[in-house]
Amino acid sequence: MVIKSVSLQNYTSLRVGGEAQLVCAHNEQHVLEAFQYAKNNNLKLHILGSGTNTVFKETLTNVLILKIDIKGVEVKEFDDHVVLTANGGEIWDDIVEHAVDNSWWGIENLSYIPGTVGAAPVQNIGAYGVELKDSLVSVRVFDTHKSEFTEMSNKDCLSSYRDSIFKHEKDRYIITAVTLKLSKIPKPVYTYEPLISLFGNNDVSIMDIRELVIKTRVHKLPDYNVYPNAGSFFKNPIVSREEAEHLTKSYLQMPLRKVENGYKIPTAWLIEHVAEMKDKRVRNVGTWPVQPLVIVNYGDTTYQELSDFADLIIQKIENGTRIRLEKEVNFIE
Ligand code: EPU
Repeated sequence: MVIKSVSLQNYTSLRVGGEAQLVCAHNEQHVLEAFQYAKNNNLKLHILGSGTNTVFKETLTNVLILKIDIKGVEVKEFDDHVVLTANGGEIWDDIVEHAVDNSWWGIENLSYIPGTVGAAPVQNIGAYGVELKDSLVSVRVFDTHKSEFTEMSNKDCLSSYRDSIFKHEKDRYIITAVTLKLSKIPKPVYTYEPLISLFGNNDVSIMDIRELVIKTRVHKLPDYNVYPNAGSFFKNPIVSREEAEHLTKSYLQMPLRKVENGYKIPTAWLIEHVAEMKDKRVRNVGTWPVQPLVIVNYGDTTYQELSDFADLIIQKIENGTRIRLEKEVNFIE
């Protein structure tokens, strides 16, 4: 096990953070060793994938970062489906590309989402009408409470919109692999713009879907290699029918999307129309002009500046609507 001192700016897509102790796990034995080392040395273990949803405070004390870098993919073929297991350190979009190349349906709408496979179940990644939980079979984890590796079924993960057990039982589980069931029979999901526009076109292939999703994401979301960011900074809030009716009296144009447990309001709309913070900057941090749900580090921004900027947006929206936004990005200090 090699512990190195690194700059966390190089390990996060928002490029914020200071020096920290980091160890890479290339297999499950390394996970076990890091866990034991942290325990013996009274260090808090923080699990990191590719850092596309995390912001670290510049000074971290008594923390050991464990980067999951376990590679490998295994596929079992059946008549009408495949069962694909990818290790946690694989890049999520490489798995999607592999599935699309083989016409295995289920995750094509989740194309081009940054991050690793191991991070995907934590926030139950979702886009364009599809969520990871729709094809998730199980997750292999190291359970730090029981000190053992175990499998958690789809049900055990308690996944819902941008949520799962891994957010609630924080730091308990270390995800080392994810198993998906993908269909050999076409199962396109066209419920969400811009995919609705493909509807009715019989020649639509799984590759057409992937390409349209990628084109849309490239247009709306900044490339974090050029404009450091962590994708959606907040969740979209879900309100009850009564609240939705009340809000639309003050905000006639407020868009609402009916979901299982109420009405989802796009945070991008709240940032633009309630907070009036679209394309606004405070010092080196600001919202992205095309999709204000994304916060960009435009220079050498700091953890504090970023946190204050997010709080300013939260406050303005709360003042205007009484809705308190929930951050999607993890703030680690
Ligand atoms: N909107 C505005 N102003 C803008 C941009 C958008 O008012 O400048 C409003 C419009 O009403 C638009 C709506 O926001 O219809 C929704 O926008 P979009 O379709 O881009 O989706 P989103 O709800 O903002 C979610 C995910 C994205 C995912 C897209 C597509 C969350 C928190 N974010 O965004 O996920 O790509 O849907 O499915 O649910 C990510 O996690 O990093 C991410 C980008």
